[in-house]
Amino acid sequence: MSRLRVLSFAVSLDGYSAGPRQDLQHPLGVGGEALMEWVFNTRMWRRMHGEDGGETGVDNRMAEQSFTDIGAWILGRNMFGPVRGPWPDESWKGWWGDEPPYHAPVFVLTHHPRPPLRMAGGTEFRFVTDGIHSALKQAMEAAGGRDVRLGGGVATLRQYLQAGLIDDLHLALRPVLMSSGENLWHGLDMRALGYECVESVAGERATHVILRRSARNSNAL
Ligand SMILES: NC(=O)c1ccc[n+]([C@@H]2O[C@H](COP(=O)([O-])OP(=O)(O)OC[C@H]3O[C@@H](n4cnc5c(N)ncnc54)[C@H](OP(=O)(O)O)[C@@H]3O)[C@@H](O)[C@H]2O)c1
Repeated sequence: MSRLRVLSFAVSLDGYSAGPRQDLQHPLGVGGEALMEWVFNTRMWRRMHGEDGGETGVDNRMAEQSFTDIGAWILGRNMFGPVRGPWPDESWKGWWGDEPPYHAPVFVLTHHPRPPLRMAGGTEFRFVTDGIHSALKQAMEAAGGRDVRLGGGVATLRQYLQAGLIDDLHLALRPVLMSSGENLWHGLDMRALGYECVESVAGERATHVILRRSARNSNAL
């Protein structure tokens, strides 16, 4: 059965997963790139950007695994881009250029309707305006038995956590303090939601932590 998974999602020591004031120059918010420094040197990241070489240690293994057996994605609108409010036109096509790294249907949660957007390499952005359950249902159908990856950002993840809909999370815990931005944990009672830590692996630039929802709460769908 398909799972809803969060993979390679970076979190600072004080619980932030994005910096404040996201804009075109700061896709991860101001200072947010410190969260992703564990991935920039990996072979996976370099390959994704058409470069050779790169490190092949634990961080790389975890990053590579996060793209395995994923049949569809769910994103929040701010992860898709910095445009807010009604779409002024159709010119914004994501941060990733003509061929985004998804290669699958990507369901983008937004309050502002927009026609689907087909990109090179099999990615199709489909804009969902009727909420998280609808996006999940559509993504599960589109995934054809493979898993659905919830890519972020923070507000979107928090909604799915609160609803008890995420089966497991792989968090890349970064040894940095952010002090501001989008906090992943604020006001969430993860134990009451049924999550527990089942694995922790030290990587080169991040500690990889796996949280899983216990069977007791696995029928939240
Ligand atoms: N740490 C990591 O590994 C990681 C991974 C991915 C992303 N990020 C970062 O996270 C940040 C984005 O996170 P975020 O919390 O600002 O925003 P987000 O979760 O990406 O998107 C939030 C927006 O999505 C739309 N949305 C969300 N839920 C909805 C619902 N139920 N119904 C309709 N629309 C809904 C709303 O947009 P509208 O109302 O405007 O339509 C909402 O303002 C970015 O800086 C990104 O780079 C970090």
